Amino acid sequence: MSNKGFIFDLDGVIVDTAKYHFLAWKKLANQLGFEFTKEENELFKGVSRKRCLEILLDIGKIEASQEQFDIWMVEKNVDYLHYIENMDESEILPDVPKVLQFLKDNNIPIALGSASKNARPILEKVKLLHYFDAIVDGNNVTKAKPDPEVFLLAAKQLGVDAKDCVVFEDAVAGIEAANAANMISIGIGERNILNEADYIFSDFTEMENDFIQELLNR
Ligand code: BG6
Ligand code: MG
Repeated sequence: MSNKGFIFDLDGVIVDTAKYHFLAWKKLANQLGFEFTKEENELFKGVSRKRCLEILLDIGKIEASQEQFDIWMVEKNVDYLHYIENMDESEILPDVPKVLQFLKDNNIPIALGSASKNARPILEKVKLLHYFDAIVDGNNVTKAKPDPEVFLLAAKQLGVDAKDCVVFEDAVAGIEAANAANMISIGIGERNILNEADYIFSDFTEMENDFIQELLNR
């Protein structure tokens, strides 16, 4: 058994759910009488649902009681659940199964490290749940990314030292969390956004098995 562990973020790394989060937040913003743009949605990547609503209300300059805040949190999620209801394997991002299978073939433990409270049902829908030896998500952590808690907990569950973990992330907050955890951070997305990552790939189709093998040999 290898002493390495691999940790995957979910939204934007395994599946392209950012578009559904965007639609649900946009609907709420419009209902409250203001616009919400794709550029603003960038700030929401990797960020907890609660923090997203706080940012959204800041954008709309809206103040809310705790009770109203909680109602909007539920409304957004009900809407999001509606969007993801019919997700299937076709929404897996390119070459994700190839990387997961390579790691499995090499007996490398795999964890999910996601801010989402909907992570498990999404992995079930896209039929990737069986690859994961540990799942740490928004239901298990008290501190959101960029705090390293989610990844440290994932490493612990895998029984692997933090310094021996590799993290795949599409969000700035996630790269910061991986770096703070002293893990190898691999950005999946745009170079100019993810420049704090140790390595950056635009997607998994660019990542050869040899690259992963090198990480395993380190
Ligand atoms: C992260 C997404 O993975 O999960 C964020 O990048 C999202 O955009 C967060 O806000 C929380 O997700 P959920 O499913 O618990 O609302
Ligand atoms: Mg993400």
